[in-house]
Amino acid sequence: MLSKREKLSNPTTRYYTSRFPTILERELLEAPYLLRPFHSDDLSSVIEINRVCLPENYSPYFFMEVYKSCPEAFIVAEKERKVAGYIMCRLEFGFSDVRRFRMVRKGHVVSVAVMPDFRRQGIGKELVLAAMKALELHGAEECFLEVRTANEDAVRLYKNMGFDTSRVATHYYHDGADAYVMTIKLPHNPPVN
Ligand SMILES: CC(C)(COP(=O)(O)OP(=O)(O)OC[C@H]1O[C@@H](n2cnc3c(N)ncnc32)[C@H](O)[C@@H]1OP(=O)(O)O)[C@@H](O)C(=O)NCCC(=O)NCCS
Repeated sequence: MLSKREKLSNPTTRYYTSRFPTILERELLEAPYLLRPFHSDDLSSVIEINRVCLPENYSPYFFMEVYKSCPEAFIVAEKERKVAGYIMCRLEFGFSDVRRFRMVRKGHVVSVAVMPDFRRQGIGKELVLAAMKALELHGAEECFLEVRTANEDAVRLYKNMGFDTSRVATHYYHDGADAYVMTIKLPHNPPVN
């Protein structure tokens, strides 16, 4: 069964996991877009989205290595039978960004993107929420990401979701741009509207 929170947190999308196949297969038919786990057939679409949307591009090998580190937190959004967006994350262990001097298991959002034609429909937010749930199930106590300080759309999205800026990583990107390191505590309980 889907928990009350899972149902309420996301009235328009349906997230498929192998634990809930039958309920969700029915509901997927009605959803405006579908979130589902990445599989290797999606690799070329994900690489294309990454190339179109972000200056940080990776080899196929890198995508598959991130996938293997936490398959449940590599999620794609499908719309009109096309992969419209993706998120991929790694599980890491290190000093907490929010609890001083504590070592914690952390989820790291390595990359997230939605194709320009499919933006501003809630897909980006739902990808991040679904990835956070998966990371939480793997014992992550917090989730963090790096984002260009100039990337206003993404920074606003993360702030609205409850991420806080932990620090600025200067010259983080290959072109010298700075990044905000943004962190959120898990479990994340989004407000129910
Ligand atoms: C950042 C990114 C992933 C966000 O994806 P998205 O699908 O547009 O995200 P959402 O739709 O969930 O939210 C974006 C905005 O659309 C709004 N929105 C969501 N659903 C909406 C709807 N149905 N109608 C109108 N607006 C809507 C959200 O409120 C949000 O608005 P705000 O940030 O101005 O408050 C996307 O812009 C992107 O791929 N950018 C390029 C790659 C990138 O920068 N990745 C992040 C690197 S850290």
